[in-house]
Amino acid sequence: MSPEQTETFNGAWHELILAVRNRKHPFRIGVVANSSVLGPEARTVVLRYADRDERILRFHTDIRSQKFESIQNGTRLAWVFQSPQLKLQIRASGPCTIETDTLEVDQAWTETQLLSRRCYLATTAPGSFVEHPTGGFPEYLTDREPTEEESELGRDNFCLVNTYVDTFDVYSLAFTGHTRCTYQFDETWQASWVVP
Ligand SMILES: Cc1cc2nc3c(=O)[nH]c(=O)nc-3n(C[C@H](O)[C@H](O)[C@H](O)COP(=O)(O)O)c2cc1C
Repeated sequence: MSPEQTETFNGAWHELILAVRNRKHPFRIGVVANSSVLGPEARTVVLRYADRDERILRFHTDIRSQKFESIQNGTRLAWVFQSPQLKLQIRASGPCTIETDTLEVDQAWTETQLLSRRCYLATTAPGSFVEHPTGGFPEYLTDREPTEEESELGRDNFCLVNTYVDTFDVYSLAFTGHTRCTYQFDETWQASWVVP
């Protein structure tokens, strides 16, 4: 990689890492897509962990959600982030792993706020058809967060999905001409400028 390609790469990962800790960061919310037998699927998720050296992007989800019909260990996932403020689009893809019972899952669960844990208390699986609009969790939780004890029921439904990024693409908007650099991991990162 040239120094400029390295700088572009590190700068993009830096923003992703900032987004994990900053709820207001434009990359805090990304889109994750996969292909399934029924065609492409995409959904918005919260970026929960990003590590440049480990090449990981992570989101949290409910193991009962519909995406698990088509995502398994090894399934390729594609992420997209974009920010008008930063004038930046990042695309990243690679195979995923699903973690349900590691120490990291326990730690992530411990750090999950009670109100966010409420989503994992849905009594029927996310994606189930229902008669009326509902959050899915027990009615007594409609206007409050669960207590720590109540929330623990959700732990069994909680998992981490890690993408091991092997393709990374940074698109920068500029009046003088947009630029695009694409990166491929094969033991080391290789980079190439691309006409945007
Ligand atoms: C702002 C926002 C953030 C979201 N974050 C997550 C998330 O972190 N994990 C998740 O599973 N779903 C999240 N969702 C819901 C998903 O977009 C999606 O509707 C749900 O996971 C069902 O997707 P599936 O049918 O592909 O399983 C979020 C939705 C919005 C609008």
